[in-house]
Amino acid sequence: MSFISWPLATLAVAGGAAALWFRSNRRYHDAASVAAAYDRWTEDQLLERLWGEHIHLGHYGDPPRRIGSIDFRRAKEDLVHALVRWSGLDALPPGSKVLDVGCGIGGSARILARDYGFEVLGISISPIQIRRASELTPAGLRCRFAVMDALALELPQASVDAVWSVEACPHMPDKQGYADELLRVLKPGGLLALADWNRRDPADGAMNRVERWVMRQLLEQWAHPEFASIRSLQANLEHSRWGNGISIATGDWSAATLPSWIDSILEGMRRPGAILSLGPRAVLQGLRETPTILLMHWAFATGLMQFGVFRGRKPANPSPGDQADAEAVSASAARLAIG
Ligand SMILES: C[S@@+](CC[C@H](N)C(=O)[O-])C[C@H]1O[C@@H](n2cnc3c(N)ncnc32)[C@H](O)[C@@H]1O
Repeated sequence: MSFISWPLATLAVAGGAAALWFRSNRRYHDAASVAAAYDRWTEDQLLERLWGEHIHLGHYGDPPRRIGSIDFRRAKEDLVHALVRWSGLDALPPGSKVLDVGCGIGGSARILARDYGFEVLGISISPIQIRRASELTPAGLRCRFAVMDALALELPQASVDAVWSVEACPHMPDKQGYADELLRVLKPGGLLALADWNRRDPADGAMNRVERWVMRQLLEQWAHPEFASIRSLQANLEHSRWGNGISIATGDWSAATLPSWIDSILEGMRRPGAILSLGPRAVLQGLRETPTILLMHWAFATGLMQFGVFRGRKPANPSPGDQADAEAVSASAARLAIG
Protein backbone atom coordinates (compact mmCIF):
# COMPACT_ATOMS: atom_id res chain seq x y z
CA MET A 1 0.00 0.00 0.00
CA SER A 2 1.33 3.42 -0.92
CA PHE A 3 2.29 6.18 1.47
CA ILE A 4 -1.07 7.94 0.87
CA SER A 5 -3.35 4.95 1.05
CA TRP A 6 -2.35 3.84 4.60
CA PRO A 7 -3.89 6.88 6.31
CA LEU A 8 -6.88 6.55 4.00
CA ALA A 9 -7.32 2.89 4.86
CA THR A 10 -6.99 3.68 8.58
CA LEU A 11 -9.56 6.44 8.26
CA ALA A 12 -11.91 4.14 6.38
CA VAL A 13 -11.67 1.41 9.06
CA ALA A 14 -12.06 3.94 11.90
CA GLY A 15 -14.97 5.58 10.07
CA GLY A 16 -16.63 2.20 9.51
CA ALA A 17 -16.25 1.28 13.17
CA ALA A 18 -17.60 4.66 14.30
CA ALA A 19 -20.59 4.34 11.96
CA LEU A 20 -21.26 0.86 13.33
CA TRP A 21 -20.97 2.15 16.90
CA PHE A 22 -23.47 4.96 16.38
CA ARG A 23 -25.95 3.18 14.12
CA SER A 24 -26.09 -0.35 15.42
CA ASN A 25 -26.16 -0.04 19.18
CA ARG A 26 -27.61 -2.84 21.26
CA ARG A 27 -30.30 -0.96 23.10
CA TYR A 28 -32.20 -2.92 25.73
CA HIS A 29 -35.77 -3.83 24.74
CA ASP A 30 -36.54 -6.92 26.77
CA ALA A 31 -34.90 -10.13 28.01
CA ALA A 32 -34.88 -11.43 24.42
CA SER A 33 -32.72 -8.51 23.28
CA VAL A 34 -30.17 -9.35 26.00
CA ALA A 35 -30.25 -13.02 25.06
CA ALA A 36 -29.75 -12.15 21.38
CA ALA A 37 -26.78 -9.87 22.17
CA TYR A 38 -25.03 -12.57 24.23
CA ASP A 39 -25.89 -15.24 21.68
CA ARG A 40 -24.10 -13.17 19.03
CA TRP A 41 -21.15 -12.28 21.29
CA THR A 42 -20.72 -16.00 22.00
CA GLU A 43 -21.24 -17.24 18.47
CA ASP A 44 -18.72 -14.86 16.88
CA GLN A 45 -16.12 -16.19 19.41
CA LEU A 46 -14.35 -12.84 19.65
CA LEU A 47 -14.84 -12.35 23.40
CA GLU A 48 -13.75 -15.86 24.25
CA ARG A 49 -10.71 -15.94 21.96
CA LEU A 50 -9.55 -12.57 23.18
CA TRP A 51 -10.50 -12.44 26.84
CA GLY A 52 -11.00 -16.08 27.78
CA GLU A 53 -13.91 -17.70 29.58
CA HIS A 54 -14.70 -14.89 32.05
CA ILE A 55 -16.94 -12.04 30.93
CA HIS A 56 -16.17 -9.79 33.87
CA LEU A 57 -13.50 -7.38 35.05
CA GLY A 58 -10.23 -8.49 36.59
CA HIS A 59 -8.94 -7.79 40.12
CA TYR A 60 -5.50 -6.18 40.11
CA GLY A 61 -4.99 -6.05 43.88
CA ASP A 62 -5.39 -3.29 46.40
CA PRO A 63 -3.62 -1.00 45.60
CA PRO A 64 -3.89 -2.19 41.99
CA ARG A 65 -0.81 -3.58 40.26
CA ARG A 66 0.49 -2.00 37.10
CA ILE A 67 -1.10 -3.04 33.79
CA GLY A 68 1.15 -5.66 32.26
CA SER A 69 2.45 -6.96 35.61
CA ILE A 70 -0.37 -9.50 35.77
CA ASP A 71 -1.95 -11.48 32.94
CA PHE A 72 -5.43 -10.16 32.04
CA ARG A 73 -7.03 -13.60 32.25
CA ARG A 74 -5.30 -14.29 35.56
CA ALA A 75 -6.69 -11.01 36.93
CA LYS A 76 -10.20 -12.23 36.06
CA GLU A 77 -9.66 -15.49 37.92
CA ASP A 78 -8.29 -13.45 40.84
CA LEU A 79 -11.56 -11.51 40.95
CA VAL A 80 -13.47 -14.76 41.47
CA HIS A 81 -11.20 -15.82 44.33
CA ALA A 82 -11.26 -12.32 45.85
CA LEU A 83 -15.08 -12.32 45.86
CA VAL A 84 -15.20 -15.84 47.30
CA ARG A 85 -12.95 -14.76 50.19
CA TRP A 86 -14.62 -11.38 50.75
CA SER A 87 -18.11 -12.89 50.85
CA GLY A 88 -17.09 -15.80 53.09
CA LEU A 89 -18.03 -18.46 50.53
CA ASP A 90 -14.74 -20.21 51.23
CA ALA A 91 -16.14 -21.17 54.65
CA LEU A 92 -18.89 -23.28 53.04
CA PRO A 93 -18.22 -27.03 53.00
CA PRO A 94 -17.54 -28.86 49.72
CA GLY A 95 -20.80 -30.11 48.23
CA SER A 96 -22.64 -26.87 49.07
CA LYS A 97 -25.17 -25.94 46.39
CA VAL A 98 -24.31 -22.69 44.66
CA LEU A 99 -26.40 -20.89 42.05
CA ASP A 100 -24.51 -18.65 39.59
CA VAL A 101 -27.02 -16.15 38.20
CA GLY A 102 -26.01 -14.78 34.79
CA CYS A 103 -23.18 -17.28 34.43
CA GLY A 104 -21.82 -16.31 31.00
CA ILE A 105 -19.92 -19.26 29.57
CA GLY A 106 -19.30 -20.67 33.02
CA GLY A 107 -15.85 -19.31 33.95
CA SER A 108 -16.78 -18.55 37.58
CA ALA A 109 -18.99 -21.64 37.94
CA ARG A 110 -16.11 -23.94 36.98
CA ILE A 111 -13.76 -22.28 39.48
CA LEU A 112 -16.38 -22.58 42.23
CA ALA A 113 -16.84 -26.28 41.44
CA ARG A 114 -13.18 -27.16 40.81
CA ASP A 115 -11.37 -25.13 43.49
CA TYR A 116 -13.99 -25.06 46.26
CA GLY A 117 -15.80 -28.36 45.64
CA PHE A 118 -19.25 -26.75 45.30
CA GLU A 119 -22.11 -28.23 43.33
CA VAL A 120 -22.91 -25.42 40.93
CA LEU A 121 -25.85 -24.57 38.70
CA GLY A 122 -25.12 -21.72 36.30
CA ILE A 123 -28.03 -19.99 34.58
CA SER A 124 -28.11 -17.49 31.74
CA ILE A 125 -30.74 -15.96 29.50
CA SER A 126 -28.59 -16.81 26.44
CA PRO A 127 -29.05 -20.35 25.05
CA ILE A 128 -25.80 -20.15 23.07
CA GLN A 129 -23.87 -19.24 26.22
CA ILE A 130 -25.38 -22.22 28.02
CA ARG A 131 -24.40 -24.53 25.17
CA ARG A 132 -20.84 -23.16 25.20
CA ALA A 133 -20.62 -23.32 29.01
CA SER A 134 -21.55 -27.00 28.87
CA GLU A 135 -19.01 -27.69 26.10
CA LEU A 136 -16.23 -26.08 28.14
CA THR A 137 -17.01 -28.04 31.31
CA PRO A 138 -15.04 -31.26 31.77
CA ALA A 139 -16.99 -34.40 32.59
CA GLY A 140 -16.92 -35.12 36.29
CA LEU A 141 -17.02 -31.49 37.41
CA ARG A 142 -20.16 -30.94 39.52
CA CYS A 143 -21.27 -28.02 37.47
CA ARG A 144 -24.25 -27.77 35.16
CA PHE A 145 -25.99 -25.07 33.21
CA ALA A 146 -29.53 -24.11 32.22
CA VAL A 147 -31.28 -21.38 30.28
CA MET A 148 -33.33 -19.40 32.77
CA ASP A 149 -34.45 -15.86 33.45
CA ALA A 150 -32.98 -14.39 36.63
CA LEU A 151 -36.28 -12.57 37.18
CA ALA A 152 -38.26 -15.83 37.19
CA LEU A 153 -35.94 -18.51 38.55
CA GLU A 154 -37.36 -21.98 38.02
CA LEU A 155 -36.08 -23.16 41.36
CA PRO A 156 -37.82 -23.89 44.63
CA GLN A 157 -37.73 -21.45 47.49
CA ALA A 158 -34.79 -21.93 49.91
CA SER A 159 -33.03 -24.45 47.70
CA VAL A 160 -29.40 -23.22 47.51
CA ASP A 161 -26.65 -22.62 50.07
CA ALA A 162 -25.21 -19.65 48.21
CA VAL A 163 -26.14 -17.31 45.40
CA TRP A 164 -23.38 -15.86 43.24
CA SER A 165 -23.96 -13.24 40.56
CA VAL A 166 -21.29 -11.21 38.79
CA GLU A 167 -22.10 -8.27 36.51
CA ALA A 168 -25.57 -9.55 35.58
CA CYS A 169 -27.61 -6.88 37.40
CA PRO A 170 -26.97 -4.14 34.78
CA HIS A 171 -29.20 -6.16 32.41
CA MET A 172 -32.11 -6.36 34.86
CA PRO A 173 -34.98 -3.96 34.22
CA ASP A 174 -36.42 -4.73 37.66
CA LYS A 175 -33.72 -4.51 40.34
CA GLN A 176 -36.15 -5.32 43.15
CA GLY A 177 -37.36 -8.38 41.25
CA TYR A 178 -33.74 -9.50 40.80
CA ALA A 179 -33.01 -9.04 44.53
CA ASP A 180 -36.22 -10.88 45.43
CA GLU A 181 -35.47 -13.87 43.23
CA LEU A 182 -31.88 -14.26 44.54
CA LEU A 183 -33.12 -14.19 48.12
CA ARG A 184 -36.16 -16.37 47.48
CA VAL A 185 -34.06 -19.34 46.38
CA LEU A 186 -31.42 -18.80 49.09
CA LYS A 187 -31.75 -21.00 52.16
CA PRO A 188 -31.98 -19.36 55.57
CA GLY A 189 -28.36 -19.20 56.76
CA GLY A 190 -27.17 -19.12 53.11
CA LEU A 191 -24.69 -16.65 51.65
CA LEU A 192 -25.03 -14.04 48.95
CA ALA A 193 -22.06 -12.82 46.86
CA LEU A 194 -22.70 -10.20 44.17
CA ALA A 195 -20.66 -7.89 42.00
CA ASP A 196 -22.31 -5.16 39.96
CA TRP A 197 -21.57 -2.17 37.77
CA ASN A 198 -23.21 0.68 39.65
CA ARG A 199 -23.96 4.27 38.78
CA ARG A 200 -23.13 7.06 41.21
CA ASP A 201 -26.03 7.42 43.62
CA PRO A 202 -28.17 10.47 42.71
CA ALA A 203 -27.84 11.63 46.35
CA ASP A 204 -24.09 12.01 45.74
CA GLY A 205 -24.54 14.39 42.82
CA ALA A 206 -26.72 14.72 39.76
CA MET A 207 -25.18 13.96 36.35
CA ASN A 208 -23.99 16.89 34.26
CA ARG A 209 -24.58 17.04 30.49
CA VAL A 210 -21.43 15.16 29.54
CA GLU A 211 -22.11 12.47 32.11
CA ARG A 212 -25.68 12.07 30.88
CA TRP A 213 -24.41 11.56 27.32
CA VAL A 214 -21.79 9.03 28.48
CA MET A 215 -24.38 7.22 30.60
CA ARG A 216 -26.69 6.90 27.60
CA GLN A 217 -23.89 5.24 25.60
CA LEU A 218 -23.05 2.87 28.47
CA LEU A 219 -26.68 1.80 28.63
CA GLU A 220 -27.45 1.61 24.93
CA GLN A 221 -24.28 0.02 23.60
CA TRP A 222 -24.41 -3.13 25.73
CA ALA A 223 -28.11 -3.86 26.32
CA HIS A 224 -28.38 -2.33 29.79
CA PRO A 225 -31.81 -1.00 30.80
CA GLU A 226 -30.45 0.82 33.88
CA PHE A 227 -27.67 0.67 36.44
CA ALA A 228 -28.46 0.51 40.16
CA SER A 229 -26.37 2.53 42.58
CA ILE A 230 -24.56 0.64 45.33
CA ARG A 231 -26.95 2.12 47.87
CA SER A 232 -30.10 1.36 45.87
CA LEU A 233 -29.18 -2.29 45.24
CA GLN A 234 -28.26 -2.66 48.92
CA ALA A 235 -31.73 -1.29 49.77
CA ASN A 236 -33.39 -3.66 47.24
CA LEU A 237 -31.72 -6.59 48.99
CA GLU A 238 -32.28 -5.43 52.55
CA HIS A 239 -35.96 -4.61 51.92
CA SER A 240 -36.74 -7.78 50.01
CA ARG A 241 -39.65 -9.70 51.47
CA TRP A 242 -37.57 -12.86 50.95
CA GLY A 243 -34.51 -11.59 52.84
CA ASN A 244 -35.71 -12.30 56.40
CA GLY A 245 -34.28 -8.86 57.25
CA ILE A 246 -30.86 -9.62 55.77
CA SER A 247 -28.10 -7.10 56.41
CA ILE A 248 -25.93 -6.41 53.34
CA ALA A 249 -22.33 -5.22 53.50
CA THR A 250 -21.06 -3.41 50.42
CA GLY A 251 -17.67 -2.52 49.00
CA ASP A 252 -16.36 -0.41 46.14
CA TRP A 253 -13.74 -2.27 44.09
CA SER A 254 -13.50 0.38 41.36
CA ALA A 255 -9.78 1.01 41.92
CA ALA A 256 -8.87 -2.69 42.02
CA THR A 257 -10.76 -3.42 38.78
CA LEU A 258 -10.14 -0.20 36.81
CA PRO A 259 -7.04 -1.45 34.90
CA SER A 260 -9.30 -4.07 33.22
CA TRP A 261 -10.68 -1.61 30.67
CA ILE A 262 -7.38 -0.55 29.17
CA ASP A 263 -5.98 -4.06 29.59
CA SER A 264 -8.89 -5.45 27.57
CA ILE A 265 -7.91 -3.19 24.66
CA LEU A 266 -4.20 -3.98 25.02
CA GLU A 267 -5.06 -7.67 24.94
CA GLY A 268 -6.09 -7.19 21.30
CA MET A 269 -2.57 -5.96 20.56
CA ARG A 270 -0.90 -8.70 22.59
CA ARG A 271 -2.91 -11.41 20.84
CA PRO A 272 -3.64 -10.00 17.38
CA GLY A 273 -3.96 -13.56 16.06
CA ALA A 274 -7.01 -14.07 18.26
CA ILE A 275 -8.87 -11.42 16.25
CA LEU A 276 -7.25 -11.78 12.84
CA SER A 277 -7.90 -15.53 12.73
CA LEU A 278 -11.64 -14.79 12.90
CA GLY A 279 -11.54 -12.63 9.76
CA PRO A 280 -12.20 -8.98 8.86
CA ARG A 281 -15.63 -8.86 10.51
CA ALA A 282 -14.02 -9.64 13.87
CA VAL A 283 -11.49 -6.83 13.37
CA LEU A 284 -14.31 -4.39 12.75
CA GLN A 285 -16.25 -5.83 15.67
CA GLY A 286 -13.22 -5.42 17.95
CA LEU A 287 -12.83 -1.81 16.86
CA ARG A 288 -16.54 -1.26 17.32
CA GLU A 289 -16.32 -2.13 21.05
CA THR A 290 -13.35 0.17 21.69
CA PRO A 291 -15.19 3.50 22.19
CA THR A 292 -17.58 1.89 24.71
CA ILE A 293 -14.65 0.35 26.59
CA LEU A 294 -12.92 3.75 26.73
CA LEU A 295 -16.11 5.42 27.96
CA MET A 296 -16.47 2.71 30.61
CA HIS A 297 -12.89 3.40 31.70
CA TRP A 298 -13.63 7.11 31.92
CA ALA A 299 -16.86 6.56 33.85
CA PHE A 300 -15.25 4.22 36.40
CA ALA A 301 -12.17 6.47 36.71
CA THR A 302 -14.22 9.59 37.42
CA GLY A 303 -16.74 8.05 39.81
CA LEU A 304 -19.73 8.22 37.46
CA MET A 305 -19.67 4.41 37.71
CA GLN A 306 -18.53 2.17 40.57
CA PHE A 307 -17.73 -1.52 40.85
CA GLY A 308 -19.96 -2.52 43.75
CA VAL A 309 -19.69 -5.75 45.72
CA PHE A 310 -22.39 -7.05 48.07
CA ARG A 311 -22.39 -9.80 50.67
CA GLY A 312 -24.81 -11.05 53.28
CA ARG A 313 -26.04 -14.07 55.19
CA LYS A 314 -29.78 -14.66 55.11
CA PRO A 315 -31.04 -14.84 58.71
CA ALA A 316 -32.33 -18.20 59.73
CA ASN A 317 -35.73 -17.13 61.10
CA PRO A 318 -38.23 -15.55 58.74
CA SER A 319 -41.04 -13.47 60.22
CA PRO A 320 -44.48 -15.21 60.10
CA GLY A 321 -45.64 -12.85 57.29
CA ASP A 322 -42.65 -13.75 55.15
CA GLN A 323 -43.32 -17.44 55.71
CA ALA A 324 -46.91 -17.30 54.40
CA ASP A 325 -45.87 -15.26 51.35
CA ALA A 326 -42.97 -17.55 50.66
CA GLU A 327 -45.04 -20.71 50.67
CA ALA A 328 -47.60 -19.28 48.23
CA VAL A 329 -45.01 -18.21 45.65
CA SER A 330 -42.83 -21.26 46.07
CA ALA A 331 -45.65 -23.59 45.05
CA SER A 332 -45.59 -22.14 41.53
CA ALA A 333 -41.85 -21.91 41.10
CA ALA A 334 -40.35 -25.34 41.58
CA ARG A 335 -39.31 -26.80 38.23
CA LEU A 336 -35.57 -27.31 38.43
CA ALA A 337 -33.68 -28.21 41.58
CA ILE A 338 -29.92 -28.38 42.03
CA GLY A 339 -28.62 -31.85 42.70
C1 LIG B 1 -21.44 -9.43 31.81
S1 LIG B 1 -22.04 -11.05 31.63
C2 LIG B 1 -21.33 -11.80 33.06
C3 LIG B 1 -21.18 -13.29 32.88
C4 LIG B 1 -20.58 -14.05 34.04
N1 LIG B 1 -21.21 -13.72 35.31
C5 LIG B 1 -19.11 -13.86 34.11
O1 LIG B 1 -18.71 -13.22 35.07
O2 LIG B 1 -18.37 -14.35 33.25
C6 LIG B 1 -23.77 -10.91 32.09
C7 LIG B 1 -24.51 -12.22 32.12
O3 LIG B 1 -25.83 -12.01 32.61
C8 LIG B 1 -26.71 -12.80 31.81
N2 LIG B 1 -28.07 -12.25 31.90
C9 LIG B 1 -28.50 -11.04 31.53
N3 LIG B 1 -29.82 -10.91 31.75
C10 LIG B 1 -30.23 -12.08 32.29
C11 LIG B 1 -31.49 -12.56 32.77
N4 LIG B 1 -32.60 -11.83 32.73
N5 LIG B 1 -31.51 -13.81 33.26
C12 LIG B 1 -30.40 -14.58 33.31
N6 LIG B 1 -29.20 -14.18 32.88
C13 LIG B 1 -29.11 -12.94 32.39
C14 LIG B 1 -26.12 -12.72 30.43
O4 LIG B 1 -26.65 -13.72 29.58
C15 LIG B 1 -24.64 -12.90 30.77
O5 LIG B 1 -24.37 -14.27 30.92
